[in-house]
Amino acid sequence: MFSSSHVLKPFTYNIKIPPGIIDKPDNHILRTLSSMKGQYYDQKIYDEMLQKEDALLYEVYEKIVPEIPGELIQGLSIVHFGKVGNEYFMTKGHFHSVLDTGEFYYCLQGHGYMMMETPEGEWAAEELVPNRAVYIPGRWAHRSINIGNVDLLMLFVYPANAGHDYGTIERRSFRKIVVNQDGRAVILDNPRWIAP
Ligand code: F6R
Ligand code: MN
Repeated sequence: MFSSSHVLKPFTYNIKIPPGIIDKPDNHILRTLSSMKGQYYDQKIYDEMLQKEDALLYEVYEKIVPEIPGELIQGLSIVHFGKVGNEYFMTKGHFHSVLDTGEFYYCLQGHGYMMMETPEGEWAAEELVPNRAVYIPGRWAHRSINIGNVDLLMLFVYPANAGHDYGTIERRSFRKIVVNQDGRAVILDNPRWIAP
């Protein structure tokens, strides 16, 4: 679509809340339960849910720019609310293929956690509430988790050359999970985590 000599024109776009949509997105990604195989700790409940329905867990609207250093990809992520057993709906999560690239998120609506982890297994979880920004430094894998009862809406911006490594998280998962216990979101060790 773009060549490296392409000169991008400045552009603007509007975000509509509700329902959580951006003008003229170049990409609309929809991820359902079936794309989360092995990620929810209660595999039995996951399989039972999937047999009934391949539920929509989250969506991403993106504005595409050339995937070259210096440009920034941006968009809107929408994590729907719900649970697999007592574990909240969440994104797959990933490292960036260019590991040293960071990402900026800004929460517009909802309540959640940004779960983060380094290749060495250090972890961090930042709570997401409306009008709170979170900065994910380079090297930190990230997963958004919706612990509320409305859609979690976030803007994101990241280097266009970052790329996505999903395989590492698919294999080892995240060290921590967020589950509902007695009506509260609690962070627990993930029994499925494989230490690096
Ligand atoms: C891009 C980024 C977000 C996520 C989105 C969906 O680098 O972090 O746009 O892509 O939140 O999550 P994943 O990509 O993990 O399915
Ligand atoms: Mn990312």
